[in-house]
Amino acid sequence: MSVHCTRWPAVQRAGGNDTMTSGFCIPRASGMRDSEMNSSRGPARAAFGGCPFFGALLSLRRAPLALLCEAAQRGEVVYLGRYPTPVYLLSHPAHLKYVLQDHAENYVKHPSVDRVRPLFGYGLTTSDGELWQRQHRLLAGVFHPQCIAALTPLITERVTRKLAHWESTRTATIDVQEEMRDLSSSIIVAIIFGADAAVCLAVIRRNLDAAIECLNHLLWSFLPAGVTFATPRHWRLRRAIGALDAIVHAQIDAHRRAEHDSHSLLSRLIALRNEDDGAVMSDTQLRDELLTLIAAGYSTVAAALAWTWILLGAHPQAQERLHEEARGLSTESLGPAFDPRTLPYARQVIEESMRLYPPTWVTARTPLERDRIGDVAVPAGSVLLLSPHVMHHHPRYWKEPERFEPDRFLPARVEARPRYVYLPFGGGPRLCLGQGLAMREMVLAVALTARRFRLIPTSLQPPQPRPGLTLAPSAGALFTLQRRQP
Ligand code: HEM
Repeated sequence: MSVHCTRWPAVQRAGGNDTMTSGFCIPRASGMRDSEMNSSRGPARAAFGGCPFFGALLSLRRAPLALLCEAAQRGEVVYLGRYPTPVYLLSHPAHLKYVLQDHAENYVKHPSVDRVRPLFGYGLTTSDGELWQRQHRLLAGVFHPQCIAALTPLITERVTRKLAHWESTRTATIDVQEEMRDLSSSIIVAIIFGADAAVCLAVIRRNLDAAIECLNHLLWSFLPAGVTFATPRHWRLRRAIGALDAIVHAQIDAHRRAEHDSHSLLSRLIALRNEDDGAVMSDTQLRDELLTLIAAGYSTVAAALAWTWILLGAHPQAQERLHEEARGLSTESLGPAFDPRTLPYARQVIEESMRLYPPTWVTARTPLERDRIGDVAVPAGSVLLLSPHVMHHHPRYWKEPERFEPDRFLPARVEARPRYVYLPFGGGPRLCLGQGLAMREMVLAVALTARRFRLIPTSLQPPQPRPGLTLAPSAGALFTLQRRQP
């Protein structure tokens, strides 16, 4: 069973002037060199889309994954149109490294992050400059590997509770997408607000899902960020954010009065002091960081785990190999000293799953000053799209990119690849702060589940990826649970 739709156009006509794309031909002006196709002026605009002003951006709204992969086949820096400033797609690992890492000081998040500002405010993922630097320094301490290792018992307890629930209710069929959302939200909320915050979990989950759903639509709006009409969707967004704000502020108040778990991440954020002036975080800044961490830690992990099970359902031999690795695990041994590297196959499976379905499938950067990427001049204020999805499916870097093959992540094979060919967690100074937490959580969840259960898909038709804030499955995915012999 092939789980994945092919996103790379199958045929590149050798020696011809036309590039065959999924079912239609885009003529290339005769004699045009690649560098001209990629230049920010003239021919490149005609090369993609056909709409003189927006270029390919209208199609990008309809089928972004396919279109970006198609565009990447045209060159390493491809002009896609205006939105309203010029938009380029970068797909060479050296260019991604240049922007994300080597010259990161010239690149900021694109102003389109204003679209998600109502939810995230000026949290770590949506801030830049001095504010980002200060907050990053502060929060990095909380995500120190030792602090993350200390969360192992909590994560283990949440996973085993979920598995015990499946057993005790004699659940025969589950929707993995729903179950993984439930699991990852319960973990992140317990980490942030403490174990006794379970009472507000359902409200957080419901309103976060509603807010993310609204933002998934607004992301593709052609209206300038900040311009809104009073549509039912906007009202839903405002209501959801209002409910989330109320919970977060109530938690901040309760933690400030020390009524809550002093080991929670929120207690530690409250206690943090800026090195330079000793200042603590304001309630508004705390609110922004908390909602950023909850959303970043929930939706990404839930999507990655759901895809992992969908892939394991389609590849039973991989699921058996995972079970063999995990069967010796004992939950008693899962303390802070647990090292996810002791479950290498579980790790490889998750890495391969995030290769095929990277939860953060695209990000954008804007140059503060004009720059040159390869042989293309990119103006200040333009938009550079960097897509883990494109890089992870690029046939130049991956043999049979659509095939699920966890052994691609054997250490020797990883070392043989350029770093920025695989970037589910981004890179450079803005590398995902939660990478260590996410990997620990996912390895534990997948291994502990495979130890106790076999998951068999009820349908041979897998869901399609749905690109929004994260790349989640388009629909639920039903699985039959089979209890394994202890
Ligand atoms: C599978 C799980 C996850 C994936 C694939 C993922 C992916 C990413 C990516 C690609 C970025 C960089 C975005 C950019 O460069 O524009 C990022 C940033 C970030 N992530 Fe994650 N993430 C995951 C889980 C988490 C978790 C569990 C947390 C924390 C609870 C978290 C917190 C953050 C934060 C705070 C940033 C902003 C870092 C900065 O700009 O300084 N992430 N994540």
